[in-house]
Amino acid sequence: MDLARRTNGIDHILCPASVAVVGASRKLNSIGGSILSNLLQDGFTGRIYPINPTAEEVQGLKAYPSVTAVGESVDLAVIAVPVKAVEQVVDDCVRARVKGLVIITAGFAESSAEGRALERRILEKVRAAGIRMVGPNCMGVLNTDRKYRLNATFTPIYPPEGNIAILSQSGALGLTILDHVKALNLGISSFVSVGNKADVSGNDLLIYWASDPNTDVILLYLESFGNPRKFARIAPEVVRQKPVIAVKAGRSAAGSRAASSHSAAMASLDVAVGALFEQAGVIRTETLEDMFDLAALLATQPVPEGPCVGVVTNAGGPGILLADACEARGLSLPQLAPDTVDALRAFLPPHAGMANPIDLVGSDDPALIERAMTLVGNDPNIDAVVVIFIPPLLTTRPEDVAAGIGRGAAAIPRYKPVQGVFMSALSKPELLSTGERGRIPSYAFPENAAMALAAAYQYGQWRKRPVGRACTLDPVVTATIRQIIDAEVENATKPFWLPATDVGVILDTVGISYARSIEVAIDEVSSASEQVGFPVVLKAIAPGLVHKSDVGGVVLGLETPQEVRDAAIRMREQLAKIGIQLEKVLVQREVRNGIEMMIGLTTDPVFGPLLVCGMGGVHVELIKDVAFRLTPVHDRDAEEMIAQLKSAPLLRGYRGGPPGDRHALIQTILRISALAEAVPELLELDLNPVKVLPPGQGLVAVDARMRICPPGAVEARRTR
Ligand code: COA
Repeated sequence: MDLARRTNGIDHILCPASVAVVGASRKLNSIGGSILSNLLQDGFTGRIYPINPTAEEVQGLKAYPSVTAVGESVDLAVIAVPVKAVEQVVDDCVRARVKGLVIITAGFAESSAEGRALERRILEKVRAAGIRMVGPNCMGVLNTDRKYRLNATFTPIYPPEGNIAILSQSGALGLTILDHVKALNLGISSFVSVGNKADVSGNDLLIYWASDPNTDVILLYLESFGNPRKFARIAPEVVRQKPVIAVKAGRSAAGSRAASSHSAAMASLDVAVGALFEQAGVIRTETLEDMFDLAALLATQPVPEGPCVGVVTNAGGPGILLADACEARGLSLPQLAPDTVDALRAFLPPHAGMANPIDLVGSDDPALIERAMTLVGNDPNIDAVVVIFIPPLLTTRPEDVAAGIGRGAAAIPRYKPVQGVFMSALSKPELLSTGERGRIPSYAFPENAAMALAAAYQYGQWRKRPVGRACTLDPVVTATIRQIIDAEVENATKPFWLPATDVGVILDTVGISYARSIEVAIDEVSSASEQVGFPVVLKAIAPGLVHKSDVGGVVLGLETPQEVRDAAIRMREQLAKIGIQLEKVLVQREVRNGIEMMIGLTTDPVFGPLLVCGMGGVHVELIKDVAFRLTPVHDRDAEEMIAQLKSAPLLRGYRGGPPGDRHALIQTILRISALAEAVPELLELDLNPVKVLPPGQGLVAVDARMRICPPGAVEARRTR
């Protein structure tokens, strides 16, 4: 995808030469009145037209009864009239050839069916006219670029100009966000409160900001996804150019629907969001505070090239806290090179600590701090520098220390990030920004600095990884599978489990080895067992039976045809006692060795198919050592999924155990992903367990189930 200079018409909204405020009330404190006064006070550089049918003049400007009465071109109309008047205003804007709309008014899809219908009608009108629209039900848009100085919101907060773009899906929170960035003195390029996202979506803004020369970091506060699959395609392209940091609200409400497979039981909306962000390289922070801590780093400093942190502190405790927080997040504090240590020894007091962190033991001498951090920052073993300062006594002014840190930072190679932890209530972070290197992010506590640095490092690692490749099925393979599926769905009206024989054929066709199995009636088990070969496993097949081993529906280690027959009869009797009628059994060759893993697939109504890989066996839902990804899964994603598992060491050979064929596991993940793409009817799949054999020997699925949803059935809804 070519994202070069793609504005998607968003420039008409963020960079207008003229703005009409429709509903520019004479009441200064009303929403329309505030929008007009913000445009005026914050110095919008273009023309402003107040639209008010009952006023001659508003806030000293000539008012017009409608947009069509202006008689000059209007780029952007900001609409803040009562909901019943909005459609007429939109019609006027279409007639007046307005290029962009921001609809502040509430009362649309978020409030009633009538509102939803009105929103749809308006959307059709603006789409037909080629107009882009932000909202409705939003707080407005803001662009600090001095060419525009556009504050088309009803908040009086005008943040400093800078390189961070912000999308907020919540209007009220958007206000708080702007307030907070101003207090932190973080610079904003543009801010968009997207409201109901009827037209302009997060995806549009990502594309716009990717090529916006004023934006280096993109922040997203999200509450829902409109088209997550489009986001999955766009975001990685954007993230390769600039970091995207997201907070997604609504983690806890997810995942309460009934689940019929292991994979579905472990999935939730939040799992899907996590998978989406991880695959796309979007940095997800737990809190808004973390989001701003990280943004402060990425907006001002380079991404660290490696994980090695050099720390200069004037107090032992915070140094240890920082070291712990770094190590817990995958960063390290290595020993400094001998030359650096010698150079430090030459001027530091004899009692100073020389193991990284360099502990200046209470010193608040700006020259000492400056020299120490310069040496640490130039050490070849160090990728990033953190300077911690606590004023021990008020002998030195914090401003002087901050200036020393600023000078020290300027002497550190520009490709290494520098952070301050300035633990003084007397100082303000901007004191650190007076040096030649410009702004140095400052944190109140060491843990915040470590969190931001670790996230920036991981982002850098993601950006360096080669673009992954998905696997697609051969057309002949697809045709064979489609034949099976088409025959099965022909008369189906609701989701169903595919017969075991079909499952076996499908797996075989996509090249996933499945333990030899035959599905038979009870009186045919002996001959079936001779066909598959001994030892044999017997598995119950009955409608709705999911956890077979919980009810005695799996018998292992059968060595003769007689043992198989006896076991089948016992199984039928045992299941009958609990009301399960054994229809058939699966006679399967037992696979005794191999590491038990699982691969599954479940379908989220909004996110579509989610693939899961993890430690397998009957305890899978208890242990939940699993990783999820959205399909199509790339080879890099598959590798990362496996690396993320706590059980990953098992595949490398744990405590004398044989290693597993990791390559075969990756290939199987990719083939299941390709199967999901070729068979949109595939609703759920469980391969659990798959026995991963030693390297070079592949793997064998010993239990496999596929649930199919006929086209048209409600559950098949997928946003692709
Ligand atoms: N064209 C132009 N101006 C019009 C108009 C039209 N068709 N219809 C009315 N107006 C003018 C009115 O004359 C009035 O000006 P005046 O005060 O000088 O007489 C002004 O628009 C506002 O109209 P009013 O009826 O006072 O509306 P309001 O200010 O009470 O409410 C909204 C308008 C948009 C603020 C309100 O409908 C709303 O949606 N509020 C919620 C907004 C919100 O929360 N959005 C989401 C934020 S996250």
